[in-house]
Amino acid sequence: MTLWLVKSYGVSMNIAVFVSGNGSNLQAIIDAASRKNIKAKIAVVVSDNREAYALERARKAAVDTFVLDPKGFASREDYDKEVIKELERRDVGLIVLAGFMRLVSDSFVRKYKNKIMNIHPSILPSFKGTHGIKDAFEYGVKRTGVTVHFVDEKLDHGPIILQESVSVDENDTLEKLEEKIHKLEHKLYPEAIRLFTEGKIRIDGRKVRIQV
Ligand code: GRF
Repeated sequence: MTLWLVKSYGVSMNIAVFVSGNGSNLQAIIDAASRKNIKAKIAVVVSDNREAYALERARKAAVDTFVLDPKGFASREDYDKEVIKELERRDVGLIVLAGFMRLVSDSFVRKYKNKIMNIHPSILPSFKGTHGIKDAFEYGVKRTGVTVHFVDEKLDHGPIILQESVSVDENDTLEKLEEKIHKLEHKLYPEAIRLFTEGKIRIDGRKVRIQV
């Protein structure tokens, strides 16, 4: 069965961006939203890390932040319950994980089925996990890249929305490759969000269909 994920064209949607660190992808999304390339409002930036530089970026752009320290929560579910309250309060229709270093709970995934996106710095299903760029570099691949996918219950596994590759050249250092990958991420993530919020994404099992 093919499912349209969003039917309302052109209507501004509230999105939440989840971060733990630097936030360069958040910055790319903020910039795209301010150029009106995305018909969405970043309603809140959620973080598990008070020290994340991403929070500074949010504040500079006058975007609300919600920081919740996982310490003091007995389980992932308990933590996510508090986060969900915040998302519901803000009527969030899309959750964008952008370097969020926590796994979300299965109940969170079920509640927001096909409404959570993640970006991963490799061509999935190759090089899952936290060191996608380094692992591909050390493996000696000639091409690697970026994947934007929906989040399901398994790590780096859900249906693939966009995927693009870059070459690994013989004189590339890890740092050079990281630069290439991040540049590509900053193009692909806003694009995936744009497609979603404009209602151009359908999902059919694992296959994501994009209306052009
Ligand atoms: C990105 O490389 C992303 O693919 C991965 O975490 C990194 C986050 O970088 N999931 P930033 O915080 O957006 O700069």
